[in-house]
Amino acid sequence: MDQKAPVVVVVVPFPAQGHLNQLLHFCCLISSYGIPVHYVGSATHNRQAKDRVHGWDPLTISNIHFHDFPIPPFLTPPPNPHAPNRFPVHLQPAFDASSQLRDPLAALLRSLSPTSRRIAVVHDPLMAFTAQDAVSVTNAETYTLHGVSAFVVFYHIWKSFGKPTFPGIAILNDLPSLAGCSTDQFLGFIARQYEYMKFDSGHIYNTCRPMEGVFLDLLAQEQFTGNKKQWAIGPLNPIVLDTSLDSDRRHKCLEWLDKQAPGSVLYVAFGTTVSIPDDQIMEIAIGLESSKQRFIWVLREADKGDIYVEEEEAGKAKLPNGYEERVEGVGLIERDWAPQLEILAHPSTGGFLSHCGWNSCIESISMGVPIAAWPMHSDQPRNTILVTEVLKVGVVVREWAQRDEVVPSATIESAISKLMVSEEGEGMRRRAEELGCAVRESVSGDGASRIELESFIAHISR
Ligand code: UDX
Repeated sequence: MDQKAPVVVVVVPFPAQGHLNQLLHFCCLISSYGIPVHYVGSATHNRQAKDRVHGWDPLTISNIHFHDFPIPPFLTPPPNPHAPNRFPVHLQPAFDASSQLRDPLAALLRSLSPTSRRIAVVHDPLMAFTAQDAVSVTNAETYTLHGVSAFVVFYHIWKSFGKPTFPGIAILNDLPSLAGCSTDQFLGFIARQYEYMKFDSGHIYNTCRPMEGVFLDLLAQEQFTGNKKQWAIGPLNPIVLDTSLDSDRRHKCLEWLDKQAPGSVLYVAFGTTVSIPDDQIMEIAIGLESSKQRFIWVLREADKGDIYVEEEEAGKAKLPNGYEERVEGVGLIERDWAPQLEILAHPSTGGFLSHCGWNSCIESISMGVPIAAWPMHSDQPRNTILVTEVLKVGVVVREWAQRDEVVPSATIESAISKLMVSEEGEGMRRRAEELGCAVRESVSGDGASRIELESFIAHISR
């Protein structure tokens, strides 16, 4: 009798929170089909992914095989809020060191090969170089899991094809410049991945048809992505959160939200890669206070390459004198890790002032929360256009062209008021709720994302 596992899945995340979490969510989904799943990374990044995961039953996580592989020691400098652009250059040493996972990953694939009929290696696009040896393992095949919007993936492909004209998507011609989004070093790092992506058997997207059907259809055209298969299975984040699991250790943000009126609170957070300079923090503080809206503000530094390395002089962001006392009862300032998904799912949350990282966008939209968009780097300026102009579930705080200027408190206040209390904002909220419903339906029952996930499972189990 054939004792081999029909298929095992090996997941190779990129070592930054916004990527670690998406691939861990993906593992949980795959594992729920009884398929063995392996998650590959350095000890510190695996620990980070596990410590911060939210929304899943701990039992699901315990079924995943985490492989803590050695990587060379890497520098883990603090973020520099005064750098010329907001791209997290301080994470580059961790990114470079993780390329050294190539050899242990290859050894893992070789060890799994004799006991599995098929190995599906699902890697972040930024880890294609690291996963390249899968091609020499006879029963392995590779898939890219895109942790950014289909809109952004399509934009880059469309640009590389010389910007052909398409009816109905003129918006692509008006997208903000890529200047200020990245560094030359990181662009070189990305370019190094491309040649290995050609070995992939297909593309998985953390998005869904109700949000990005148009762009998924374009991506499916043979002229752009060859005859490779694609599956849009998002949102990968859980959409139903069992808060009762944590009732005795309920986070203070959630307790505070319990006491607020439905839809009355603005959640303010800029992800895990951005540190805001002091002068900008002051303007945000004043803008929030003068908007007279209730708010939760996650005021923490960007992650370091290794989040467990203690910093000698960890700086606490300064607020105007007496600020926390003045806003007491109206605003809550969280300086540590906040349960973002649960906050967005809470009925008292009515808006999100966000940098528009893709996780933040899709988490907010899946919970039906409209967005005040303040892009900082990478894909965020393009996500902003998707959210505000394509989906029409958000307002822009400041244009990308003004990225080098400190945004004054009055501008921030005006964007918040537009989102939270204007008629226009009401329309955005209504559309966000409708879209949120459609997105949640797509991952449930016989929704489009669920069907595509099952199609992916059937494909790798064939
Ligand atoms: C990065 C890039 O910046 C982004 O543009 C890209 O699309 C994905 O990776 P990041 O900047 O950290 O991610 O932002 P985001 O994509 O929003 O991811 C942050 C994640 O951390 C979200 O899942 C969010 O829920 C979570 N988070 C962050 C918390 O749960 N609590 C916190 O306190 C902070």
